[in-house]
Order: sequence, then structure tokens, then C-alpha cells
Amino acid sequence: MARTAVLAGLGGYLPPRRVTNEELSERFDTSDEWITTRTGIRSRRWADTGISTGDLAVEAGHRALKSAGLAPEPGVVDMVVLATTTPDQPCPATAPDVAARLHLGPVAAFDISAVCTGFVYALAVASAQISAGHADRVLVIGAETYSTILNPADRTTSVIFGDGAGAVVLTAGEDDQPGALLGVHLGSDGAHKDLICIPGGGSRQRATHGEPDPAEQYFTMQGKKVFAAAVNHMRQSTVSVLDAVGWTTDQIDLLVGHQANARILKSLARQLDLPEDRAFINIDQVGNTSAASIPLALADACAAGLLAPGDRVLLTAFGGGLTWGSAALTWPGPTPA
Ligand code: ACO
Repeated sequence: MARTAVLAGLGGYLPPRRVTNEELSERFDTSDEWITTRTGIRSRRWADTGISTGDLAVEAGHRALKSAGLAPEPGVVDMVVLATTTPDQPCPATAPDVAARLHLGPVAAFDISAVCTGFVYALAVASAQISAGHADRVLVIGAETYSTILNPADRTTSVIFGDGAGAVVLTAGEDDQPGALLGVHLGSDGAHKDLICIPGGGSRQRATHGEPDPAEQYFTMQGKKVFAAAVNHMRQSTVSVLDAVGWTTDQIDLLVGHQANARILKSLARQLDLPEDRAFINIDQVGNTSAASIPLALADACAAGLLAPGDRVLLTAFGGGLTWGSAALTWPGPTPA
């Protein structure tokens, strides 16, 4: 037996405003037919003006703590790790404010930026802190408000992304316990950083161009080039983590992949020889919520009764950076709030 991070709580939160394909078809040169056949998305949630990523993160954090049977008070967690591409401001990080608003006391709190792979990166960091004995309990949150960075002139990205937050509580346990996080694999390829990016707003632009160009403050993605890379890297990363934990593909009870595109998830399942119904899909209702995608999908899969204690669950994600990552865990059976 070895000291390992164990999943102890889970919660998801979506802002109330549902934005349908029909509504977007009135604003862009697009159609419900194009969006559903190309992406699998039927609707997504967008936060109302004034609602920030931190606001969504606080809601999801509350729900995860409640699901773990913990009151939001000082001492219940040692660390808060927040994965996001859309922080409340460039500086400081959003996590300390989220920790303070959750009344968690003077805990370590920081953001992780790995775009859509952010939650898996955050899980890896949090579980390493627990395994090393530096933390006994960590709140890991993925939260995004992509609606704030979408270019209103870009129909492709505008129909894909949604807002939301999901969170888990990891606690110290043993690797033979249900809920144990047994293995993680991470990777990146910065040579293709331009395929998914916000070109402006950072030190490179300020150093080279002087005044920021408002048009460069929006999120951009070269979708077609990213599609094949997403499937390849998630497949390779999944195989790496399966090898590391000694599972075969047919032992996976549920593949919970980053909800970038339903076609990507189905293609990934096919390439892994996994029956399609073992690849969980909720993108139809939430769109691509980037770093919030995997914890929201876990919460939805759990609420749908698709996860039983002891089930073998594989998480996999791909995103800007480029980055990718996978994690293998057994299911403990927490109930999302
Ligand atoms: N409505 C109607 N037509 C559209 C729309 C739209 N919303 N968007 C694009 N089109 C058009 C294009 O202009 C193009 O027209 P053309 O053939 O006349 O030039 C046509 O549809 C096909 O466009 P493609 O970009 O080739 O469409 P594709 O089938 O590749 O779908 C999509 C685009 C959904 C973005 C897909 O490429 C994809 O999912 N890519 C992967 C995304 C991904 O995995 N990202 C990584 C994670 S996200 C992150 O890290 C933040």
C-alpha cells in the first residue's frame, strides 16, 4: 500500500443562462444543423455580464466540499488549485480569492494555466502534493468563462465554447482504496502554440507592438489542424497511463474525456477499441468548457448513475499549449451536491 490521493468530493456548477443553437443562428451565419453535426453541441451556458470565473469556481467549490461532507471553514483543505484560461484578472491569480470567499483560511492557493488540459494538470499537481505528504486535502477546481474571450466576429469559436465550473476534493488515502488516483500522464508541444491562443495581452505583445490591439485580445483556434492532434495525443496519453497502472482498454468502465467535440470523443473511443457508450458525452448540453469540462462531465456522469464504487475511470484531455494529459482512478461513489 502507498499513500495516494483519493477522490472524496465532487461538484459542478453552470451559470443559469442557456444559449441554444437557434439563438446563435440569429447572431451568426450558422445553423443548428451545422453545429450539431460538426460538434455535437445543442446548447451551452454563458455567464451574465458581471459574473466571473471566480464566481463560478466558488459555487463549484462549495458543492465539492459539501459532497465530501466538509464545511467551508479554515483548516478543511491545505491547498486550492484552480485551473483556468479565463482568470478574473491577469494578476493576481484567482485561486487565493476563491479560497478566501470559501472561508478556507490561509491555505496555499494558485492557478494553473494549461487551457483545456488544465484540470488534469491540476489533478497531477494536487495528487503529487498529497503523495509526498505536503498536503492532506486539496480542493481542485476547473472554472471558465470563455464567453468573455470569444470574438463576436468568429462564428466557429463562438458556437463551441461554454462557461461553467467543476471541482473535486482530493484527500490522503491508500492506493487500494476506491477513489484512488492511480496514475497520471502529462505532455506538451509548444512548437504549435499558435494553433490555440489569445495572441495579445501578454508580455510578448507589449514588448513588440507597444499599445495592445483589441482584436488580438480574443481567443483563436485553428480547429481543423487541432482535430487530428487532439485524437492522436489523447490516444497516446491514454495508452501511457493505462500501461503505467497496468489496466487494459477493455477494463475501462468509463472514459471521461475533455468535451471538445463529440466527433473527437467517438473517434478516440474507436481508436482505443472501446464501445462508444463507454465514452461519456455531455457536450450536447454544456459545449466546450475547457478546464471545467472534465469535472463537469464527472459530475454529470455521476448524477446519471453511470459510475459505481470501484469502477475504473479514465480521464483524458487535450488543449492549447499544446498540452495533453490523462489520469486513471477508481470510483469512490461520492454524490455531487
Ligand atoms: N457555422 C457554419 N459554418 C461554419 C461554422 C459555423 N459555426 N464555423 C465554420 N464554418 C464553416 C467554415 O467556414 C468552413 O467553410 P468552407 O468549407 O466554405 O471553408 C466549413 O464550415 C468547415 O470548417 P472547418 O473548420 O473545416 O470545420 P470542422 O469540421 O473542422 O469543424 C471544429 C470545426 C468544430 C472547430 C473542429 O475542427 C474541431 O472540433 N476541432 C478541434 C477542436 C479542439 O479539439 N480543440 C482543442 C481543445 S479546445 C482548447 O484547448 C481551448
